[in-house]
Amino acid sequence: MSLLPHLGHGIGLRPPHYPRVADGTARVDWFEVIAENFMIPGGRPLRVLEQARTLAPVVLHGVSMNLGGSDPLNERHLGELERLIGRFEPAWVSEHLCWGAYGRYYAHDLLPLPYTDEALAHVADRIRHVQERLGRRILIENVSSYLTFTHSTMPEWTFLAGVAEAADCGILLDVNNVYVSAMNHGFSPHAYLAGLPPDRIGQIHLAGHSDAGTHLVDTHDHPVPSPVWDLYADAVRRFGPIATLVEWDDRIPAFEELVAEAERARAIEAEVLGARRQLA
Ligand SMILES: [Fe+2]
Repeated sequence: MSLLPHLGHGIGLRPPHYPRVADGTARVDWFEVIAENFMIPGGRPLRVLEQARTLAPVVLHGVSMNLGGSDPLNERHLGELERLIGRFEPAWVSEHLCWGAYGRYYAHDLLPLPYTDEALAHVADRIRHVQERLGRRILIENVSSYLTFTHSTMPEWTFLAGVAEAADCGILLDVNNVYVSAMNHGFSPHAYLAGLPPDRIGQIHLAGHSDAGTHLVDTHDHPVPSPVWDLYADAVRRFGPIATLVEWDDRIPAFEELVAEAERARAIEAEVLGARRQLA
């Protein structure tokens, strides 16, 4: 049973496709937008988001809350997010399980945490604070990583599951990030999925990555590659039908190509669930 309504198979809405929203031809199940891109006083992006809402449900996806950081949470940022939620009434709100700032220094990246009991309690406390402030449960997303901490005491999936339990939040499972990190660190992506609590998975992300030779890089500039589709099929098998979204952030293709990726996700989900029904 999914934590959230199954909105179907949507796309991340990015500026190259704003004209398709403006003229009403962007036909998709749902949109996800980067919350920070709309924390502005006015202008075209806000108008486009108003129009997007008339076409399909919208979800707000944050990238800079610094949930894993050690600085106090930015209350002004939370206030701006609260205003966006009030204005656009997203189906839900998500953020990343990571850190990205320290004092005046901003990494502009989603950096991994050490997987320890101390970090788990710290980030769960901060998520609880955010949820109280926003008056709603949020989803937290696993990030791709290129290094691990020698003082980690548990695998990433145990950490993610523990945080979700301790904070009573949901999980945005990025299947591509699982695959990228699994290849970079040498663990089984299927063991990762097996270690997650099915009743906390609210959404799935799909994306493409690049092969740098020595490691995979989470570039979001390619179609979803076949090992990630295979892992998505495994996720559907384990967790059932979950709202799924295709992210594409660089070398963004034509709208139809992006929608075709979402349609492929729909077809894989139908195939997996059909096979599951036959076995039952
Ligand atoms: Fe993602």
